[in-house]
Amino acid sequence: MTFVNEHYLKLRGGYLFPEIGRRVEAFGEANPKLAERLIRCGIGDVTEPLPPAVVTAMHHAVDELANRKTFRGYGPGTGYEFLRATIAEHDFRGRGVDIADDEIFVSDGSKCDCGAILDILGPNNRLAITDPVYPVYVDTNVMAGNTGPGRDDGSYVGIEYLPCTAENGFVPALPGDAVELIYLCYPNNPTGAMITRDQLRAWVEYALSINAIILYDVAYAAYISDESLPKTIYEIDGARRCAIEFHSFSKNSGFTGVRCGYTVCPKDVQAVTRKEVEVPLHDLWTRRWNTKSNGVSYPVQRAAEATYSKDGAGQIGELVKHYLGNAKRLREGCESAGLTAYGGLHSPYVWVVCPEGIDSWGVFDRLLNEAQLVTTPGVGFGSCGEGYFRISAFNTRENTEAAVERLRNVSW
Ligand code: MLT
Repeated sequence: MTFVNEHYLKLRGGYLFPEIGRRVEAFGEANPKLAERLIRCGIGDVTEPLPPAVVTAMHHAVDELANRKTFRGYGPGTGYEFLRATIAEHDFRGRGVDIADDEIFVSDGSKCDCGAILDILGPNNRLAITDPVYPVYVDTNVMAGNTGPGRDDGSYVGIEYLPCTAENGFVPALPGDAVELIYLCYPNNPTGAMITRDQLRAWVEYALSINAIILYDVAYAAYISDESLPKTIYEIDGARRCAIEFHSFSKNSGFTGVRCGYTVCPKDVQAVTRKEVEVPLHDLWTRRWNTKSNGVSYPVQRAAEATYSKDGAGQIGELVKHYLGNAKRLREGCESAGLTAYGGLHSPYVWVVCPEGIDSWGVFDRLLNEAQLVTTPGVGFGSCGEGYFRISAFNTRENTEAAVERLRNVSW
């Protein structure tokens, strides 16, 4: 018989969002009439159509592929130069941040990159992961065999969990023990919190002082509406030596179905062999992409490029404004319903304290049954998420306003 990767058997429960989908489907089967009024504020999936500039670029690219003269076959595994250069210029150099075109690696999304990066990192790294957290960071490490077994509370032996609480503004304290790999995400999923430049500087200095690497997820960077807050970790001196950053076109440009993102891997980030020989991760990441992938499709890369055009940038700005407007309404709606809410200012997520005496799956069930509102239970993001639930602002304005009304009418 063929052997399985037994690390998968350590995973506790299913992936959070399919589990929510299963519960919502069961509700729909039992209550077909009520299911018609479901409002989905669970998974952070966009609702608004692609910006016109993106659609035009995609159509044009497909037409090129339909013509013998302009047809293209395999593209570069790490992304077309036109897109890498556009990203490096607009997201970094144009803002005074030193990132070269070939330090950008185009991919089919930051979720995939967060898992794939483990291909080039060794198995013995001590991990520091925030709690609550986007479950992908934890589960991909479990799958790769980088953790011990799971515990009853859903945590895993071998991970140092960094509690993110209302008291610390959902920005954790530095780890007590030295670690080699640190996961941070700001604007934060799920709490919607943001980190200040000084706080991020403290993390970069810490990572440099112990030769650790920070995996920094900025999938929601477009939602930062205060220029004094860091949009990329490379705004901080020294980050080129200790950070790899993950970006996404999903949440700003509506690409959750189109699929495109990118990683920044500066040439200065190094890790070591067991014999303490330093190796630039940029070389390994390039090798990994060229071996395991033929890159993202040409029309999708042209679509991503169009998000930086004058029209495209204006249109995605409007999209972000729309979702931020929803987030504001949801947060204020929660507060007017007597609930304590965080986030929603620089983020499409509102993080809400569960009413006294009811846990986060209890709130999920009550909102589903009484209000036909789908949310995400905080405990699904880690044990520190218990006592909270997350509401996603990715919705139409009409649904958002209906959701606020229903939240107000629930008898807590
Ligand atoms: C979320 O709801 O946390 C995200 O949409 C999930 C994802 O981006 O994979």
